[in-house]
Amino acid sequence: MRTALNHRFCVAPMMEWTDTHCRVLHRLLTKNALLYTEMVTAEAVLRGNRERLLRFDPSEHPVALQLGGSGPARLAEAARIAADFGYDEINLNVGCPSDRVQSGRFGACLMREPELVAQCVAAMRAAVSVPVTVKCRLGVDEQDTEVSLRTMIAACAAEGVSVFAVHARKAWLDGLSPKENRDVPPLDYGLVYRVKQENPALTIVINGGINSLDDAEAHLRHVDGVMLGRAAYHSAAMLSEVDARFFGGDPVDVDAAVAAYMQYVERKIAEGVPLNAMTKHMLSLFNGRPGARLFRRHLSENATRKDANANTLRDALALLNRPHAEAA
Ligand SMILES: Cc1cc2nc3c(=O)[nH]c(=O)nc-3n(C[C@H](O)[C@H](O)[C@H](O)COP(=O)(O)O)c2cc1C
Repeated sequence: MRTALNHRFCVAPMMEWTDTHCRVLHRLLTKNALLYTEMVTAEAVLRGNRERLLRFDPSEHPVALQLGGSGPARLAEAARIAADFGYDEINLNVGCPSDRVQSGRFGACLMREPELVAQCVAAMRAAVSVPVTVKCRLGVDEQDTEVSLRTMIAACAAEGVSVFAVHARKAWLDGLSPKENRDVPPLDYGLVYRVKQENPALTIVINGGINSLDDAEAHLRHVDGVMLGRAAYHSAAMLSEVDARFFGGDPVDVDAAVAAYMQYVERKIAEGVPLNAMTKHMLSLFNGRPGARLFRRHLSENATRKDANANTLRDALALLNRPHAEAA
């Protein structure tokens, strides 16, 4: 029997950021946070290199795969393949606003098609035994968010979906870039709180603009879980406090986590993974500590070199915690 997944603290899916190496690092910083992959389209799973797209490190559990798509049968088949890889949850992307995604008729534009999304999740649920969840926006463009969010949640809940991660702002599909769509449309946390009150049996995870663990704690008075994206990536050291603060566990020592990541890096370099693919996720890990800037600079200048190896990371780490180094 699998134990139920705990959505109290989640790290958001982020393309080109939350890849397998990033997730291994985050997992060393928190045993309990639920980690999401980058979005992978159903078509890529069906037609592409599955090993490259779906393989992950066993240490990453609990880990959820996010799929993009809008064809129920294609999504169901992709979900089944992904579940065989061992993911703990399959999440459907109903929030991504990029042009590429809109032309494929998935992501945020699906906020206009709750019945189709319901068919997708129904087909996915029938294909896998792990939970199928939805990440959505409040609405898109001119939609009335009081209606669009509730309609989407009701349609999916009617098909048995019980976990929703809600990015608490609209997406403007016409006129804003994906990046602007993460900041410009105003946040409406109150609507997400009300939807939780109206649906006590559903697990509602709130996302968008949560920048600190104090913010996260405040949201948890109203909803079941928080999902942090950019703050978790750019201030990953905060993840080391998540177990103690939100799961009754022990705080994690960042240096011990980095020592463990070093072992992972050595193993992966031996398998031919370039150093930079792993160290790029560490660049802001030591922000605020003496030597952080030198650490970052050393990696930026050297980790992409052909001969870069674990010693390059060791040399960068040696620049930390030397009080006068920064001025040198
Ligand atoms: C670089 C980047 C890539 C993203 N890729 C995805 C994605 O693949 N799927 C998705 O649902 N959201 C994606 N997002 C949106 C985040 O999951 C999250 O909803 C958004 O950043 C708001 O949360 P935050 O304010 O905590 O960052 C991405 C965000 C960023 C910054």
